[in-house]
Amino acid sequence: MKSVRLHNRLTTLLLKSFTVLLFFTFSLSSFSQDVDEVRQKEGKKLFKSLCASCHKLDRKLIGPALGGVEERRENDWLKAWIKNNAELRASGDADAIAIFEEYNGSNMTAFPQLSDKNVDDILYYTTVGEIKKEVV
Ligand code: HEC
Repeated sequence: MKSVRLHNRLTTLLLKSFTVLLFFTFSLSSFSQDVDEVRQKEGKKLFKSLCASCHKLDRKLIGPALGGVEERRENDWLKAWIKNNAELRASGDADAIAIFEEYNGSNMTAFPQLSDKNVDDILYYTTVGEIKKEVV
């Protein structure tokens, strides 16, 4: 009798832990899926067509790796740089001059045609990277 009750309690405990585990698994996976796919796609498209000839996300190419660049630079600075880096340098911006010198004066193209939203979408892509499709 006693052992049966103990067994029941153990089963309940197991079931409870299992529920908690399931809950965490789901909340975690929904968290990792919490990416705005429309923006990511838009940003990726622009990045591939305009930036990928000189930049990669994970390593240096002609210019620096851009993955996580938003952690290093302010958004305003990035907008100014991407739209017209020569103008930013000419304004005397120390960071702009420093990165230009670090890359031995390689010239990055100016992109005055990009809107703020375009630039933010590109930066969004550099931050979230590729969307991992879940293998079912
Ligand atoms: C022709 C090559 C080229 C293209 C195309 C290009 N870049 Fe660059 N980029 C560079 C180089 C080289 C540097 C390093 C600074 C310098 O030498 O001017 C740089 C620097 C940068 C930086 C500063 C990084 C840091 O660590 O501070 C950002 C941000 C950046 N580029 C974004 C972009 C984006 C976004 C695009 C596309 C819209 C783009 N670049 C297209 C060559 C390029």
